[in-house]
Amino acid sequence: MTTTTPPQDFAKRLDQTAEDTEALLAKLLADTLLADEIARPKRLMDAMRYSTLGGGKRLRPFLVVESAAIFGVAREAALLAGAALECIHCYSLIHDDLPAMDNSDLRRGRPTLHKKTDDATAILAGDGLLTLAFDIITRDEIHQDPAVRLLLTRALARCAGIGGMVGGQMLDLAGEGRFGDREPVDVARLQQMKTGALLRFGCIAGALLGQSSQKEYQALDDYGRALGEAFQIADDLLDVEGDAAALGKQTGQDAALGKTTFVTQLGIDGAKQRVRDLLARADQALSIFGPRGDVLRAAARFVAERKN
Ligand code: IPE
Ligand code: IPE
Ligand code: MG
Ligand code: MG
Ligand code: MG
Repeated sequence: MTTTTPPQDFAKRLDQTAEDTEALLAKLLADTLLADEIARPKRLMDAMRYSTLGGGKRLRPFLVVESAAIFGVAREAALLAGAALECIHCYSLIHDDLPAMDNSDLRRGRPTLHKKTDDATAILAGDGLLTLAFDIITRDEIHQDPAVRLLLTRALARCAGIGGMVGGQMLDLAGEGRFGDREPVDVARLQQMKTGALLRFGCIAGALLGQSSQKEYQALDDYGRALGEAFQIADDLLDVEGDAAALGKQTGQDAALGKTTFVTQLGIDGAKQRVRDLLARADQALSIFGPRGDVLRAAARFVAERKN
């Protein structure tokens, strides 16, 4: 029989991982040069730190840490892999906010990076974070076996790249009709790619780090897919119904840009029902872990009920 993790315990765990991730990212983004680096330009480092430190729920690192914990993986290694994933996430937000993309002025309660600096600095800070993520994920401290590091690196590349986040962002823009004819949009696929892929990586990372069985990997993969879709639908609902101050970003942007989402396709009630269905799918996927899946079960609830 499984139990549900008490919410206060969940909140404490999420806060602790956010705190540890913040400290780790601050170290990774320090001015100290690494071997083979020539210089770390101040403007670039300040921009990368601005968009990476001091905000964000750190849900993706949390998924890495908690999925890895199922297999008893050392927390330090999981935090490092989580930091790599968070670098990719922060880069995706910087580029998502650019005038050429969603043209957003506010992120995590502060001016977006291009507003604070300029477009070129924001583009380069994103590039720097993307590249740094792959520096981090290949480090010896991630796992003693280079074969495991290779698998993780490849998975991260595929979740972040053409067939994942970057490809999804392309579909998202095409769905606005900004490149000519407005093509019919497969919203499930679009969201699976632009948002789901990075969240799913957070979940399979634990299985890869823990060298899990195929069945366990599949369970976390299924869970990650359901969670990823639920996360983006919740984001789209918050864009319509949420409070900008709590969110730290503007609302009403999707409608203004003509985005196609599950909210536009199913309506608010239909989208909420889909989130509930996805929660049930996430629970089902975790059933093979018994109580070891409790924290991830609570994470799915958090995703569906979040206000920011
Ligand atoms: C926002 O992600 C972008 C989407 C994928 C919808 P989060 O809501 O996880 O953003 P932070 O990291 O907490 O700011
Ligand atoms: C962002 O989706 C997805 C990525 C950054 C990859 P949104 O454009 O809906 O995210 P917000 O609402 O700006 O955070
Ligand atoms: Mg966007
Ligand atoms: Mg956006
Ligand atoms: Mg959004």
